[in-house]
Amino acid sequence: MTLNTSIKVIEQKTKMSQTNTKIQTIHTPVLLQEVLDTLKPLKGERYLDLTAGYGGHAGEVYARTSAAMTLVDRDDNAISVLSKKFQGQVGGHGDVTLLHSDFLQACRDLVQEQQTYSCILVDLGVSSPHLDKAERGFSLKSDGPLDMRMDTSQELTAEYVVNHYSDERLANILQIYGEEPKARRMAQAIVAARPINTTTELANIAKRIWPGHSKVHPATRLFQAIRIEVNNELGQLEEALPLMVQLLQPGGRLGIISFHSLEDRIVKQFLKQRAGDTYDAEMELVNKKPLTASKNELVTNPRARSAKLRVAKRK
Ligand SMILES: C[S@@+](CC[C@H](N)C(=O)[O-])C[C@H]1O[C@@H](n2cnc3c(N)ncnc32)[C@H](O)[C@@H]1O
Repeated sequence: MTLNTSIKVIEQKTKMSQTNTKIQTIHTPVLLQEVLDTLKPLKGERYLDLTAGYGGHAGEVYARTSAAMTLVDRDDNAISVLSKKFQGQVGGHGDVTLLHSDFLQACRDLVQEQQTYSCILVDLGVSSPHLDKAERGFSLKSDGPLDMRMDTSQELTAEYVVNHYSDERLANILQIYGEEPKARRMAQAIVAARPINTTTELANIAKRIWPGHSKVHPATRLFQAIRIEVNNELGQLEEALPLMVQLLQPGGRLGIISFHSLEDRIVKQFLKQRAGDTYDAEMELVNKKPLTASKNELVTNPRARSAKLRVAKRK
C-alpha cells in the first residue's frame, strides 16, 4: 500500500493549536445514503465539502472514489480531526486539501483560483461535538460559558451579544433568527438580568418567560438566534450560494443539508431562481422535494430529525 495522499492544511485565519486540542470525533453524518445517491460522486471527480466537520460524508466519498478533495471547516478542532483522519489515506490518486476557513471566504478564494468541482456538499449548522462539549457554550442542557463560536479565533462571542447588544437589537435577532413569539419581552428580561455569564443563566431567563411544560426546551429559539448571530450563519449562506454555483463544473452537483426553516428557505428560494423551469436556467433540480431522514436513520441518529437535503445540478 502506498501513501499517496498529500495533505495540505492551509490556515487562513489562525495558527492551529496542535498541542492542546482535545480531539472529539463523535459525529454521525446525516442523510449519508441520500447524499451519495444524489451527488453520485464518481472516481476521478473533484469533491468540495464546505462544512467537512468530522469527515463523515467526506470519508465515505473518499472511500468510494478516491476523489481529489477540498475540505473546509471554520472549527479548528474539526480541522485537527480531519488532518488525522486523512493522514496516510492509501490507495487513491487524489489529494486532500484542508482549509481552515469560513465557507464564504473559502468560496471567494477558490473562485479566485478558478477551481471547479464535480460535487459540492454543504451540511449546515453545528456538529455533535459542538453541542456535547459544554465549554463551547452551544448547549442549553449543560452549563458552560457564553461562547457559541464555531471558530474560536473569532472576536464576537455570545457573551458580547447577550451582555452588550441593545434590547431592541436583541429583540430583532430573537424575532428574525429565533422566530421567538415573546422576543421583545425576552430581550428586556435579558437586559434586566445583566451581567449574564453562563448558558444556564441564559436558559433560565427563557424558562421564566415560558413557565410550564412544553415539548421543546423554552430556550431553544433563544439559543438558535444567538448562535446564528454570533456565527453570521444566514449571511454566510446567502452570500456563498452564488459562488458555489460558480465553483461547479458543467454537470456538477450541489447538495445542501439544512436544519431549520430559515436556512431551508434561503436554499429553496435560491434554487428556485437558479434552477427554475426556464430554458436559460443554469441549474436543474435533482430532487423536486427535499429529502429527509428515513425511519431507520432516525432511530440511530435523532439529530437527523430536522435535516433536509436539496440537490441541484449545473447544466
Ligand atoms: C453538521 S457539521 C458537518 C458534519 C460533516 N458533514 C460530517 O459528516 O462530519 C457542520 C460543520 O460545519 C462547520 N461550519 C458551519 N458553518 C460554517 C461556515 N460558515 N464555514 C465553515 N464551516 C462551517 C461547523 O464548524 C461544523 O463542523
